[in-house]
Amino acid sequence: MLQQKAFITGASSGIGLETVKYLVTKGWQVAATMRNPDAAAELKDLPGVRVYALDVTQPDNVKSVVQTVWQDFGGIDVVINNAGYGAIGPFESATEAQIQLQMDTNFMGTVRVMKAFIPLLKQQKKGVLINLSSVAGRVGMPLYNIYHASKFAVEGLTESLYYELRPFGIRVRLVEPGPIKTEFNGRSREDLVAPEGLGYTRFVGQINRFYNKMFSEAEGADVVAKTIYKAAIRKGSKIRYPSGRIAKSLMVLNKLTPGSWMRVISRKIMGI
Ligand SMILES: NC(=O)c1ccc[n+]([C@@H]2O[C@H](COP(=O)([O-])OP(=O)(O)OC[C@H]3O[C@@H](n4cnc5c(N)ncnc54)[C@H](OP(=O)(O)O)[C@@H]3O)[C@@H](O)[C@H]2O)c1
Repeated sequence: MLQQKAFITGASSGIGLETVKYLVTKGWQVAATMRNPDAAAELKDLPGVRVYALDVTQPDNVKSVVQTVWQDFGGIDVVINNAGYGAIGPFESATEAQIQLQMDTNFMGTVRVMKAFIPLLKQQKKGVLINLSSVAGRVGMPLYNIYHASKFAVEGLTESLYYELRPFGIRVRLVEPGPIKTEFNGRSREDLVAPEGLGYTRFVGQINRFYNKMFSEAEGADVVAKTIYKAAIRKGSKIRYPSGRIAKSLMVLNKLTPGSWMRVISRKIMGI
């Protein structure tokens, strides 16, 4: 495989950080972007890696960093939209600002980066756009309501762009991890707290116990880094790449069973 040049958002921790390290082992050059470039000092010493400050909620920041990276690297082959976080809690208690920030980061952040890159990739007549979705972009589960909305939106947009961008030599991919042990269920988690009187307290307690156990037993981010690499190098029209054991089995179950069965099975597993 020829040496490739990749651009990635949210490279300070978890899946983003592991992906940069994995791509370096393949001899790739990587533009590793993150909100605070001091957060992943270890990346600065890796061969072929350059670190840039980028907050995907800032439109001007996205445009100028994409231009700078394009010039510094003399083009980019693979764009990885990884930055994101998960809001969790009863939808009824989510404020307008919380909903907007979730969509602005996970969905609009991806939109902004793609919009900045597409004209450049068209000139180059090739490129791969990889968007981090999730099993949460295919199947709805309790309390991740607006996170699901953001990932379902990424899925729909990406599937549509498959047709639009193919004539220009641009491939699109969705990487869909299941639970992965990162900062996602730690510092990147935003709890939407419902007042006692709304009647969700017991339900939230039960679901949180289930999710906390699930994340504590989850696979590492290296699994997703390998899936991202596979999605980047594979030719053809396969756009969805489930990642990790749980994602793969859940997708099979989702395909083979009616939605009503999935919901009954999920409730049984969660004890609700
Ligand atoms: N872990 C899972 O179970 C799982 C499963 C499915 C999908 N995913 C998806 O995988 C992606 C990476 O998550 P992760 O699990 O690796 O979690 P993580 O360790 O918390 O990493 C999230 C990254 O996103 C960055 N980020 C958040 N808001 C940003 C913004 N406005 N601009 C730029 N960067 C921003 C964070 O930067 P800071 O360091 O500045 O906060 C961090 O680098 C997310 O899109 C997530 O939805 C995760």
